[in-house]
Amino acid sequence: MSNKFIEFQNQVEAVKARCASGEIGEAERDAALRQMRLQDEAWGDVWMLSPKGDWFRKAKGSDSWVRDYPLPLIDPATLPTVPQMNLRQVARAVHDCARCPLHQGRARAVPGEGPANAEIMFIGEGPGFNEDKQGRPFVGAAGQFLEELLHGIGFKREDVFITNVVKCRPPNNRDPEADELAACKGYLDRQVELIDPKVIVTLGRFSMYRYFPGASITKIHGQAQRVGQRLIVPMFHPAAALHQPKWRPLLIEDFQKLPQFIKEAAAFSQPKEADVSSATQLNLF
Ligand code: URA
Ligand code: SF4
Repeated sequence: MSNKFIEFQNQVEAVKARCASGEIGEAERDAALRQMRLQDEAWGDVWMLSPKGDWFRKAKGSDSWVRDYPLPLIDPATLPTVPQMNLRQVARAVHDCARCPLHQGRARAVPGEGPANAEIMFIGEGPGFNEDKQGRPFVGAAGQFLEELLHGIGFKREDVFITNVVKCRPPNNRDPEADELAACKGYLDRQVELIDPKVIVTLGRFSMYRYFPGASITKIHGQAQRVGQRLIVPMFHPAAALHQPKWRPLLIEDFQKLPQFIKEAAAFSQPKEADVSSATQLNLF
């Protein structure tokens, strides 16, 4: 496979080799690596490869660098079935997915982002206008509010895994339909299995239905329910709380309970197995 990401990787290796041969010092090497950029013309993204070997992406229209992995470095021909995939492979499969009609209207699929060992996972509904443009979840107004809510309990966005029940934007932000939710479910199932969070927060009705079909969000929001080895906490969707001022304080209040729920879940969740493959994945993702 030859592509510009491989060429860029080779340029980075060449700088490292100059350091290894004593031609330049380590400080000079790291400074050079931090300045190297790859412009992805297809999407307008900018990429960099840190001295530690982690890829970062700045999406067009965004100011922030996010740890990401260039999908062109994964050969789609090598993908196993979804239940065998790692997180990167899920992202690659989602990127090319045509399992439901939502693929027709998307600019970019939005697999989700965050650390592979996150203790909390947030599951929203589906990408909106900005998410579809950037290929990242919760980057519009709802995302900004979500970040504020996280800061309010001492968390950063980078600490949590954020994704959606459908990975492609429904036209005009309409509700996802049953067949679309069903078609997309396998990806989310695998993400939950791999990340194995202590606490899952569902944002809005559609992700709540995944665990509590037919439940009423006004009745069960903010109540943690044990499902297997973790707690599921349904909450109002931040976008709904922005539109319905009466829900805003309820969402803030529900967020305040999260640190306690994490502690409670830690008491009964299994310590994560120190398995080599997940450790590798953590480094790479
Ligand atoms: N709303 C969602 O449900 N998900 C997003 O990613 C953005 C807005
Ligand atoms: Fe595939 Fe999910 Fe996108 Fe539908 S919404 S095309 S199932 S990734």
